[in-house]
Amino acid sequence: MASWPSSTAVFALLFFLISPYASVSAVRYPSTGDGACTRLFSFGDSITDAGNFVSLSPNVSVLTPPYGETFFGRPSGRFCDGRLIVDFVAEALRLPFSPPSLVGKTADDFQHGANFAVAGASALNQSFFRDLGLDLSIIPPYSLDVQVDLFKHVLQLLGATEHEREDVMSSSLFLLGEVGANDYNHLFFQNRPFETEIKPLVPKVIQHIEKAIKVLMGLGANRIVVPGTVPVGCIPRFLAMFQGNSSSGDYDAAGCLRWLNDFAEHHNHELKRMLHRIIPYDDPTVTIIYADYYGAMLEIIRNPLKHGFTKDGALNACCGDGGPYNSGSLISCNATSILCPDPSKHVSWDGIHLTEAAYRFVARGVLEGSYAEQPILSKCRC
Ligand SMILES: *[C@@H]1O[C@H](CO)[C@@H](O)[C@H](O)[C@H]1NC(C)=O
Ligand SMILES: *[C@@H]1O[C@H](CO)[C@@H](O)[C@H](O)[C@H]1NC(C)=O
Ligand SMILES: *[C@@H]1O[C@H](CO)[C@@H](O)[C@H](O)[C@H]1NC(C)=O
Ligand SMILES: *[C@@H]1O[C@H](CO)[C@@H](O)[C@H](O)[C@H]1NC(C)=O
Repeated sequence: MASWPSSTAVFALLFFLISPYASVSAVRYPSTGDGACTRLFSFGDSITDAGNFVSLSPNVSVLTPPYGETFFGRPSGRFCDGRLIVDFVAEALRLPFSPPSLVGKTADDFQHGANFAVAGASALNQSFFRDLGLDLSIIPPYSLDVQVDLFKHVLQLLGATEHEREDVMSSSLFLLGEVGANDYNHLFFQNRPFETEIKPLVPKVIQHIEKAIKVLMGLGANRIVVPGTVPVGCIPRFLAMFQGNSSSGDYDAAGCLRWLNDFAEHHNHELKRMLHRIIPYDDPTVTIIYADYYGAMLEIIRNPLKHGFTKDGALNACCGDGGPYNSGSLISCNATSILCPDPSKHVSWDGIHLTEAAYRFVARGVLEGSYAEQPILSKCRC
C-alpha cells in the first residue's frame, strides 16, 4: 500500500463498470426527507473524483492539458474535459462544487459538503486484492469503507453535538458511487479470468455497497442516490482490449460488446435487488434512489445524433493514442495525444472516462427522473 500513490498510478483511473437498464428505486418521504439539500456528500471512483487522486499522486497526465479544457480551462484533477455528474448535481442544487475531502481541512471547507471519491477506488478493500495477488500499485487504499470512515471525521467537524450532526445528515444529499466497477476492472486489467474470478465477485461487491448505505443510514442519512455502473461493453478501452468476432454475434447493433454489457447489467440487477431489500418501508422518511447511469449512457450510444453527438463520437475516444477506438492503451490521453476537434460530440473523453457532454446528459436524466425512479430534484427542494 505504501507503493500506491507513487508509481505509475497514472492509469489508475480505472473507473466504473457494470449495470442495467432502467431505473429503480423506491422511496417514500413524508414530512421530512424532502426539504432542501444544503450539502452534497459523494463517494466513489474516478467518475466522481474531483481532485483527491491528484492530491496523492501529482505527477499524472490528468494534471496536464487537455484535461479540463472544456470547462475549467485547465486541468482540475477531474478525469474529464470538464464537469462530472457530481458537479452537475451540485449546480442543480445551487451548491458550490464539493471540495475533495483530502484537500479540505476545516469545517468551513466542508460547509456545503465534500467529495470522498478517489480514482481507482473499489468497494472491496485493498487487502482483498492483495490476497488475490494483484499488483496494488494502481489500487488506492481508499475503498468505500475507508471513504465512509473519512466521512465520519468530516461529520464530527461539522457538528459538535449529536443533535447538530443529525441536522447535518438530514439536510444532506448522498451520492454513493458509482462504485464497484473498479473491483472488476482491477482484475480485468491484470488479465484475470472472467468466469472464475471476476463474475463471482459481484455478490461481495454488492455486500460492501450495502454495508456503506447502512452505515450512512445509521448516522441519519435520509436521501441516498446509488448509481449503477455504465455499459462497459461500449467503453473504448474495453472495446479495444476485448475485440470480438462480428460474424459470431459478439457485438450489438450499436457496436458494443454484448458479454461485457450483460455483465454490467448483472451487477446493476443485483444492486437494485439489494436496494429494494433494504429500503426501509417502515420509515417513509428515508429515500434511496437507484440512478441508471447504464441506461442513460446507452441511450446516447444508440442514438448519438439525437443527443448532439456524432456517430464516430459514440464509441471512439476523443483523446487517445490513435489505436483501435482511439484507445490502444490504458493511459492514452495527454498533451501529445490525438485529440478530437469537439469533445462535446464524443461520449468518451479518454477511452475510459466520459466527456462533460455525456456526463451532463446522464446527470440531467438522474436529476429530472428519466434515468432515476424518483427525480433527485423532487427530493431536494431548492
Ligand atoms: C513525472 O512524469 C514524467 C513523465 O511521465 C517524468 O519524466 C518525470 O520524471 C516525473 N517527475 C517526477 C517528479 O516523478
Ligand atoms: C478488508 O475486507 C475484508 C473482507 O472483505 C475484511 O475481512 C478485512 O478486515 C478488511 N481489512 C481492512 C484493513 O479493513
Ligand atoms: C467468426 O465467427 C464465424 C461464425 O461463427 C466463424 O466462421 C469465423 O471463423 C470466426 N472468425 C474468427 C477470426 O474467429
Ligand atoms: C502520451 O500518450 C501517448 C499515447 O497517446 C503515449 O505514447 C505517450 O507515451 C504519452 N506521454 C507521456 C509523457 O505519458
